[in-house]
Amino acid sequence: MQPVVLVTGASSGIGSALCKRLLREDAGVRLCLACRSMQKASATKAVLLAAHPTAQVTLVRLDVSSLESVLRAASEIQRRFQRLDYLFLNAGIMPNTHVNFKALISGLFSGKAVHMLSTAEGLITQEDCITADGLQAVFETNFFGHFILVQLLLAVRP
Ligand SMILES: NC(=O)c1ccc[n+]([C@@H]2O[C@H](COP(=O)([O-])OP(=O)(O)OC[C@H]3O[C@@H](n4cnc5c(N)ncnc54)[C@H](OP(=O)(O)O)[C@@H]3O)[C@@H](O)[C@H]2O)c1
Repeated sequence: MQPVVLVTGASSGIGSALCKRLLREDAGVRLCLACRSMQKASATKAVLLAAHPTAQVTLVRLDVSSLESVLRAASEIQRRFQRLDYLFLNAGIMPNTHVNFKALISGLFSGKAVHMLSTAEGLITQEDCITADGLQAVFETNFFGHFILVQLLLAVRP
């Protein structure tokens, strides 16, 4: 039986490059692309099938920043696949990262200037937002949504 590989955030960037690489290594691998945009996921699937026409590529809608979506996706994955061999928890965001110039200027005139410039501590800020679940978007997307997904998938596996 060919291995089943689940890739979150497979619609672009590293996720889609990974899918291409996996099929190049083993065209028989069964890929499950778990993406928040079905339009982008379909485009990625088309690119994969163009290079590997016999590949088995399944799409599952998954927004890891929404627990409701994670619950739905977990049960869909369990319904569609009898087994899961590899999980690539790749989906993630890094929104609006920029230099905090106010901190930079005040840091330059403080006793922490060398430490601040050598580590960048306090210099980089990020504008996060709160999701419908009341969590910070970066935390829920990059970590918590995936954590819950894995717990749900493991819950029914031996
Ligand atoms: N590239 C780097 O240098 C680097 C460095 C360190 C860590 N990383 C991490 O590596 C991963 C991939 O990076 P990348 O450069 O390929 O980023 P990317 O091009 O921005 O791709 C991120 C993928 O995650 C998906 N995604 C974002 N939020 C999602 C959500 N709520 N639910 C489901 N999917 C979601 C995106 O979907 P959409 O296409 O719909 O936006 C996209 O497919 C990320 O977790 C990133 O934080 C990357």
